[in-house]
Amino acid sequence: MRNYLRRLRLLPVTSFVALAAMSVFFSLVVRAEHDVAHLRYVNQGGLLYDNWYVHLGTPPPTDTHPGYTGVGEQGAASWRCPACHGWDYKGDWGGSAQERQSQGITGIRNMTDAPLRSIVSVLKNDAHRFGGRIPEEGLTALAYFVAGGQIDMDHYIDRITRRASGDRVRGARIYQTICAKCHGDDGKFLNFNTAENPQFVGTVATRNPWRTLHKIRMGQPEVDMVSMLAFTTQDHVDVLAYTQTLPLE
Ligand code: HEC
Ligand code: HEC
Repeated sequence: MRNYLRRLRLLPVTSFVALAAMSVFFSLVVRAEHDVAHLRYVNQGGLLYDNWYVHLGTPPPTDTHPGYTGVGEQGAASWRCPACHGWDYKGDWGGSAQERQSQGITGIRNMTDAPLRSIVSVLKNDAHRFGGRIPEEGLTALAYFVAGGQIDMDHYIDRITRRASGDRVRGARIYQTICAKCHGDDGKFLNFNTAENPQFVGTVATRNPWRTLHKIRMGQPEVDMVSMLAFTTQDHVDVLAYTQTLPLE
């Protein structure tokens, strides 16, 4: 009886502890789900940054973007974010062109951690005109990428030599078990360009490492190429460093 009473007195304490544990558990579950949703949004945004009309499967624009002042990209390609903001997100390395073609347009780095709303309104302003072309959910995904998905590539790629700083041996482990499945162990299984002027993984990685790093992290729009976003930036950079050792032709 005495035992029973003591247990009864402890009941509020034990139920409080149980409730607290449960709420911690559920908040962890909610946070994990939130984290996954966040990652998916960032990934979608990264694919849209690469090529929003291909990723959305909408007809490409037929005109050249009125704000485009560079020489490299005419027509639809001038509407892609890298045409103006570069693959380095700093406006220096643009579009499909492998050479520097800065138009003096600001990069997107300063809007890291900016509120999603302000990024979406930039995308609808006169310099951009994406409202109506990209659905609201796509604009939000782009904002997630700008706010929380971009990285400072200068930490990993030398601007002069274009060399990636990663660990090639670690990169080879990842490349040979994941990327090689589609690209072949020498990166030459898929040719991204013409037979006369072929481009393989090694070619793109050596000439435009910024573009390659973006695609290693986000995947390639439209095709089955995987995103490595769930892994660390160091992993991505290690893969990049290894791909720079693959044959150019
Ligand atoms: C034709 C050129 C062009 C294209 C394409 C373009 N932008 Fe811009 N972007 C600009 C210009 C010019 C500015 C500076 C003026 C302004 O802030 O509106 C700018 C500014 C920005 C800014 C604000 C940067 C800051 O620090 O204030 C963000 C973020 C941005 N762009 C994201 C994007 C995204 C995402 C895409 C692709 C969906 C894109 N832009 C496509 C020209 C372009
Ligand atoms: C499931 C298949 C698949 C996997 C896995 C895969 N890729 Fe790809 N990748 C593709 C396809 C398909 C393309 C597009 C080919 C084309 O445009 O002709 C592509 C394109 C590319 C490009 C060229 C992009 C461009 O337009 O400049 C690079 C570089 C690349 N992949 C590197 C990698 C790396 C590195 C990995 C591993 C992290 C990887 N890929 C994993 C299928 C894959």
